[in-house]
Amino acid sequence: MRSYLLVLICFMLSSLGFAQTDVNSKVESLLLRMTIEEKIDLIGGYKGFNTRGVPRLNVPTMRFTDGPMGVKDKKKKFTAYPATICAAATWNRDLVFQMGQSIASDVKTIDKDVLLAPGVNLYRVPQCGRNFEYMGEDPYLTSQMAVAYIRGVQDMGVVATVKHFVANNQDYDRHRVSSEVDERALHEIYFPPFKAAVQEAAVGAIMTSYNPLNGVHTSESHYLIEDVLREKWGFKGVVMSDWVSVYSTDAFKAGLDLEMPRPQYLNVESVKPIVLSSPDSMKLLDDKVRRILTFTLNHQKDKYSKQGVDLASREECAKSVAEEGIVLLKNKRSLLPIEGVGMKRILVVGPNAKQSMYSGGGAAKVKAAKPLSFYDSMVASAPNNYEIDLLELPKNDAYTNDGLSDDFVSKLYAVPGYDVVVAFVGFTSNIEGEGHDRPFGLPMFQNDLIGALAQRNRNTVVVINAGGGVAMPWVDKVGAIVHSWYPGQEGGRALANILYGKVNPSGKLPITIEKRWEDNAASASYDINHAKLDSKPLYSIHGKPHKMGKEFYKEGVFTGYRHFDHVKKKPLFAFGSGLSYTKFKLGSVSMDRNIVSDMETVKLTLTVKNCGDRSGSETVQLYVHDMKPKVVRPMKELKLFQKVFLEAGASKEVTFHVKRDMFAFYDVERHDWAVHAGKYQLLIGDASDNIVIRKKVEVR
Ligand code: BGC
Repeated sequence: MRSYLLVLICFMLSSLGFAQTDVNSKVESLLLRMTIEEKIDLIGGYKGFNTRGVPRLNVPTMRFTDGPMGVKDKKKKFTAYPATICAAATWNRDLVFQMGQSIASDVKTIDKDVLLAPGVNLYRVPQCGRNFEYMGEDPYLTSQMAVAYIRGVQDMGVVATVKHFVANNQDYDRHRVSSEVDERALHEIYFPPFKAAVQEAAVGAIMTSYNPLNGVHTSESHYLIEDVLREKWGFKGVVMSDWVSVYSTDAFKAGLDLEMPRPQYLNVESVKPIVLSSPDSMKLLDDKVRRILTFTLNHQKDKYSKQGVDLASREECAKSVAEEGIVLLKNKRSLLPIEGVGMKRILVVGPNAKQSMYSGGGAAKVKAAKPLSFYDSMVASAPNNYEIDLLELPKNDAYTNDGLSDDFVSKLYAVPGYDVVVAFVGFTSNIEGEGHDRPFGLPMFQNDLIGALAQRNRNTVVVINAGGGVAMPWVDKVGAIVHSWYPGQEGGRALANILYGKVNPSGKLPITIEKRWEDNAASASYDINHAKLDSKPLYSIHGKPHKMGKEFYKEGVFTGYRHFDHVKKKPLFAFGSGLSYTKFKLGSVSMDRNIVSDMETVKLTLTVKNCGDRSGSETVQLYVHDMKPKVVRPMKELKLFQKVFLEAGASKEVTFHVKRDMFAFYDVERHDWAVHAGKYQLLIGDASDNIVIRKKVEVR
């Protein structure tokens, strides 16, 4: 039956001409045969998650599904992968490529064509409700992870969609809070992952954001779509709106190809008069249709030629990403792993112990096929001689700002008697998710709980579920801290492997965690009260004038570690940091030259040694530093990194190729990137705050 179907499909495709390599001529021929109405119908979404296709001419619909942490389906359950911020914390391009392939394999099982992922907006404030589905604060790390993810997805014959273009760095009142970002910050910080998706991963589609940029809705921004995406970066694919975020027919002239999920503005009634009014508008319509047809027909070629990977390896991939993305932040007296001879008595407590917090909320939340809670996973993988008790919490209190009740405190009498206490704290998908922001601090109940546990037992381990940083008023009091993000359905198993020492943690923070919210570069400008500037629902009447809230990105390019370096402040946990159960040493550096020019790159080699007694992985990071900047620049910017696995006692060489464009900054005078000749330093370390090697180079 299967082979019969395949033959039938191949026959249909070849009879339609889809098997021919020349998609372009097929597209031109379709354009000649389509009516204006059919063309306009093609630029509006259909039945929520599809393009309409052209049934009369056998042009199929393209069927979309949400990501980025697995397939989001209303009815069916799927493998729920770790949050993409956790994937970024692996700093492992190959693994993220596999994650892309695995998710695309899920997409294929329901015969969908387009994955609405990945999201690559940068982490600017911990509060942003969508941080968990983005990839951290650094443009280079995010670009690298996004490129790996997209290549993995598209390698399986599924089209990826990079979103949300651009500057969706807070999610409260998102339709009307405009991100006010200067040109340099756009080019140096917020654009690069989108640019890399276009130029390095040949991403098939781009989705605009809900938030306006500098006062203009992104779906209606000629600057973003035509000038930047198409003109500067050469994007040839489809630009679609986010769901219900076109506000007028201006989107037509601005360059948007596809209004999702339905044509409220880009419909026959509104667009036909525009198109008939001038040949230029007709050309605009043809260009959009041409792009949608090309995207459809190109995909028909790939779709049937790629096999997906099997379910077991998809689940294994989800587990590996969690194992490599979970970050060990603190480990006093080598409290972790919990292992060694003799009986171990462990107390598990905390609101996120017994229910699996595998994901943040919103369009990205997958219905997980097999979620297993942290507690159940710890029990399932514990050695025989371990005793694991669960201290139940008062229902509903744990996510509130109420303190601990006396009744509950009285139950803590047994806490000192345990070898280790593991507290699972953090948010839920209701608190942290799409469409709103969350607080920086954990609910007071949880902070009080951690304080009370640490007071009674110094071997208290805190495991956090959050899409980014949280305030940790108890940081000095607890023994160990693990950031588990939202680790996907296999996250419990992954975490148990880390706690019991079966897996050596190797995740590194893709964000900076500040001691206090006031230390964040955006603390002076991020203000959720902007939302209250105008309490009327602004877009209930489309097309009517409205006020906008404004979020001023006053910090410019100095976000995350760039800010902490600039103001010479120490964060609580630095970008790029993360502990291991072993120790690594970086050394023996050699460079083949110390001059970088258009013609010459520097080949820098160093040795990484695992000096401890267990195998593990280290991520070596290379930053550049301008010694005499002519414009104010960040003290360091990540330009290269490599993750290496090493057996206990083993050494490996890591090679970096340093190129001239790595020293560039965005010159607002020339509206372009520029490299100033002069002296620079290459800074190499295992974290942004632990640079152990400095080498001078001259850039010509
Ligand atoms: C989200 C997008 C998502 C779309 C479709 C929107 O609310 O912002 O990320 O792809 O819905 O579900």
